[in-house]
Amino acid sequence: MQKKRILSGMRPTGKLHIGHYVGALENWIKLQDEYQNFHLIADYHVLTTHLNTDDIYQNTIEMLIDWLAAGLDPEKSPMFRQSQIKEHTELHLIFSMLITLSRLQRNPTVKDQLRYLHIKQVIYGHVGYPVLQSADILLYKGDAVPVGEDQVPHVEITREIARKFNNQYGNVFPEPEPLLTKFSRLPGLNGDAKMSKSLNNTILLSDAPEVVKSKLKKAVTDPQKIRKGDRGHPDICLVFSYHKKFNTDEIPEIDAGCRSGKLGCFDCKMNCAEKISSFLEPIREKRKYYLKNLDIVKDILTDGEKRGREVAQKTMADVREKMMMG
Ligand code: TRP
Repeated sequence: MQKKRILSGMRPTGKLHIGHYVGALENWIKLQDEYQNFHLIADYHVLTTHLNTDDIYQNTIEMLIDWLAAGLDPEKSPMFRQSQIKEHTELHLIFSMLITLSRLQRNPTVKDQLRYLHIKQVIYGHVGYPVLQSADILLYKGDAVPVGEDQVPHVEITREIARKFNNQYGNVFPEPEPLLTKFSRLPGLNGDAKMSKSLNNTILLSDAPEVVKSKLKKAVTDPQKIRKGDRGHPDICLVFSYHKKFNTDEIPEIDAGCRSGKLGCFDCKMNCAEKISSFLEPIREKRKYYLKNLDIVKDILTDGEKRGREVAQKTMADVREKMMMG
């Protein structure tokens, strides 16, 4: 029996942070045996917010190295760039006819981005962001899309477009489901609801232990717990949410220690930094290997693009057959 398919991707905006790992990457790695995975480097999507492409190739390689170092297996899971498989843009054009502008203007992620990035004028391609994303997913007939919770509205739009296409021209596409991780969002070091490069509140997968420590030292904690001895509220503390992910064994003690005041924020943070660093250690080691062997990384991309292209071409042949042959 054919395995169910996963398509998921990220925009190459540079090195990844632990929020990317916890929100999506971890799930990709876990699911790559059960599913046939395809992973997309959404380089065209970057243009919706950054017209300058000087760093795009470098960022692509950095991100790919992080994917590999975290445990994505290039044999099982082809990885490729959107810009190198032209069927993405072709299917995007067709899909742009199958959805209304008012539906896209209701998409909450565009509104969010405008707010976060202080963008005043929306470009045409930015409103169309989820249409290109729908093409990304459906080109590989993705059954499941493991993403962070912020991406769920885009998967919903993808389902609508798939349904519309299938009704209009005949059955080609599945209606994909989002797959969320338990911690689909990690708060940022500054107390913001999410980690985000543009908010400068992240811990990178590549951060050395000293860096993790110094970043955690500055992390915002419960404002009512000013010194050791004060009673804290772990449920509103972002350091506690990192413990929940990276230090599961000690949760009851930390919870009790913080609430009673016996545990001070400094000790709690240093403990957390250690746990995060030991989690990152094998990833950092593997990163070093790939950084030294960039040829291997480039070959992985070439191979992934060849395998991705084959699938994409088949789907497009199917689409044209259904649409254009009467
Ligand atoms: N929009 C996703 C993000 O910002 C990236 C992305 C592009 C994607 N195409 C995709 C994710 C297809 C899942 C499936 O992270």
